[in-house]
Amino acid sequence: MAGVTKSSFGKLKSGAAVDIYTLTNKNGLVAKIMTYGATLTELHTPDKDGKMADICLGFDSVAKYEKGHPYMGSTVGRYCNRIGKGRFTLGGKTYKLATNNPPNHLHGGGPKAWDKVIWKAQIVARPNGPAVQFTYFSKDGEEGYPGNVNASVIYTLTEANTLKMEYAATTDKPCPINLTNHAYFNLKGKGTILDHELYIAAKSYTEGDEDLLPTGKILPVVDTPYDFFAQPAIVGDRLLAAGGKEPNIGYDLNYVLLPGAKGYATVARLSEATTGRLLEIRTDQPGLQFYTGNFLDGTLTGKGGWKYVQYSGICLETQHFPDSPNHKNFPSTILMPGQTYRTKTEYALLVK
Ligand code: GLA
Repeated sequence: MAGVTKSSFGKLKSGAAVDIYTLTNKNGLVAKIMTYGATLTELHTPDKDGKMADICLGFDSVAKYEKGHPYMGSTVGRYCNRIGKGRFTLGGKTYKLATNNPPNHLHGGGPKAWDKVIWKAQIVARPNGPAVQFTYFSKDGEEGYPGNVNASVIYTLTEANTLKMEYAATTDKPCPINLTNHAYFNLKGKGTILDHELYIAAKSYTEGDEDLLPTGKILPVVDTPYDFFAQPAIVGDRLLAAGGKEPNIGYDLNYVLLPGAKGYATVARLSEATTGRLLEIRTDQPGLQFYTGNFLDGTLTGKGGWKYVQYSGICLETQHFPDSPNHKNFPSTILMPGQTYRTKTEYALLVK
């Protein structure tokens, strides 16, 4: 039945209850999002023969999420990706954040990073499909960031078979904000993503150092293994040349997206030949972190007993550039009091 249902997804160790919302659209697609981290836990889409599969990595209990995982399906904030040495200066004051990805800050930091807190949820009316809004109030100083911030994300599973995420945030002090959804996709719902084909609408990327922190340089992708624009390619084909430290070889870099008409564009297309599934990513964001699950090492067992080995899933995280607060040449990520941060990203769930 099309619509939204709410159920319990268990409790955290603290006893706090976690709910899960199931969105079903008229075409039978299903998305599940839980209040812990406003996390996308399941996404069921048809293949070319109409056969459904769950194309997102994740776990079947909240206990497994709480035990620790690499942001599978999470809403990541206040600042996704890296901030160099966990430090930035704003209005003459230097703020210190957790260096949870030594020597840098990653994905909002420690226990109060937004993927690890419980968001409030309410079913909302949207003209184009079933929807749920998640809200979180982050106190001034939380994880070292300035300002009381009210954040929200509305997930809508549209009748056009897109999962849409609309983010908003306000603050009472200037603060960097950079939100993303960190879904790991596998269009077969099993195996690895090395056989998936990818297109990215970008002619350049932000160069990273050995800890994946931007050097500040923006380099062209042409004639590099990073070119998925002039040369859409099978992900596994050039993977060994993509960089990374042994044994974590693979793609993990931020693309500078080509600006879309009206500020909104299809920025990536991921497809898989045997199922015919095609995922199109649309966004208004300037950057895209492309990550091939290089750090997955088979120690986590996900839904249905699936062992998450290296390259089990692919992340295409729409966002601002990493470490923007420390790079004047990158588009600004500072939200000012009185302004509203707004951004949207859509996962179009298609078949070829
Ligand atoms: C992002 C980063 C990766 C890694 C994953 C989570 O995609 O770019 O380096 O930290 O998140 O494991």
